Amino acid sequence: MKIFAIETSMDETAVAVVEQTDKGVVRVLGEAIASSSEMHTKTGGVVPEVAAREQVVAMIPVVREALQRSKVESRRSNQEQLMSEGVEIVELNRWARKNIDMVAVTQGPGMIGSLLVGVETAKTLALTWEKPLVPINHLWGHLYANWIGGDKPPELPALGLIVSGGHTDIVLMHKHNNLEVVGGTGDDAAGECLDKCARVLGLPYPGGPEISRLADKFEAKKTKIKIGLPRPMKDSGDLMMSFSGLKAAFVREVQALGDGVSEEDKERLAYELQEAVVEVLVEKSLQAMDKYKPKSFLLCGGVAANSLLRRELELKIQNSQFKVQLFVPEVRYCTDNAAMIGAAAVFNHSPADISTVSADPALDLV
Ligand code: KG4
Ligand code: ZN
Repeated sequence: MKIFAIETSMDETAVAVVEQTDKGVVRVLGEAIASSSEMHTKTGGVVPEVAAREQVVAMIPVVREALQRSKVESRRSNQEQLMSEGVEIVELNRWARKNIDMVAVTQGPGMIGSLLVGVETAKTLALTWEKPLVPINHLWGHLYANWIGGDKPPELPALGLIVSGGHTDIVLMHKHNNLEVVGGTGDDAAGECLDKCARVLGLPYPGGPEISRLADKFEAKKTKIKIGLPRPMKDSGDLMMSFSGLKAAFVREVQALGDGVSEEDKERLAYELQEAVVEVLVEKSLQAMDKYKPKSFLLCGGVAANSLLRRELELKIQNSQFKVQLFVPEVRYCTDNAAMIGAAAVFNHSPADISTVSADPALDLV
């Protein structure tokens, strides 16, 4: 079964065609992505109106490119020649109608204008191709990024840590289509904290990778001067988290330096911020594993691209008594992409009545 998936919840326009392999994992036949994130670096954050307009412009070329790659991959023949010959959109459309079994799309949560571009495009294609339409929760998509590639799928029950720009949640996946939220932030998301702190340092959006880059520079110099940022709620005894106090403490540290924030200061602050965020996320993950004893642990979301977080979680699990297998998506499937939406649809495909599907910017995780 081939699933055509669209993701447009933030500033990406992403399309992918995926299918399940006989090993039970998800194979990506073809994908394409366009991002307007560079346009938001100057504004220090995503401007919704700008993002949605760019998505309208990018949608057809991205659909075309993803279909072209999928067609080539599924034929497995003379790829270069086919690619260089170019394939007309009409012909691709015919191929899709014949080969695609289902259309999946991110329904929410996200920015309304952006979601609408994806949802309305998906509805149109589902109607044109006469295929069922499956609305997918973006956050479920992040979890299912862990089913892409690899040799064997995660075993259930699994615990998941979704850490993105807008969400930080710990979820228990009992079975496919059966999720329970067991912890998470009560205020800012971890990614939001990184983005806002980066902005205070004058770094471009998105801030997470910038903080990580500076922190690595500091690490390389091996001058360990701690500034003592808090680890909020680390020992709260439950699975709740908070990142707004950390952000406030960070801002105070920057303000205390006045006008003279040097490159070295920035690196040191970024280092300490990354340490604080990662320490809390890893600690809460271990506490959750201790409580629920899952078979698998699924790290996911944009912040899961962070190399310190990936490394630390792996190390701490290795050194623990937990018999849990850690899954972490490839970096490109941590940040927003369409393959993860297709993967979620592979395992949760109750088709909806097209006329009732609508974008839902505030869609809850469960
Ligand atoms: O999942 P995602 O692409 O979009 C949302 O659904 O929000 O996550 C974006 C978040 C941003 O806050 C970004 O700063 C963060 O992921 N991020 C990172 C890294 N790459 C992206 N944070 C830390 N380290 C990274 N390497
Ligand atoms: Zn996301």
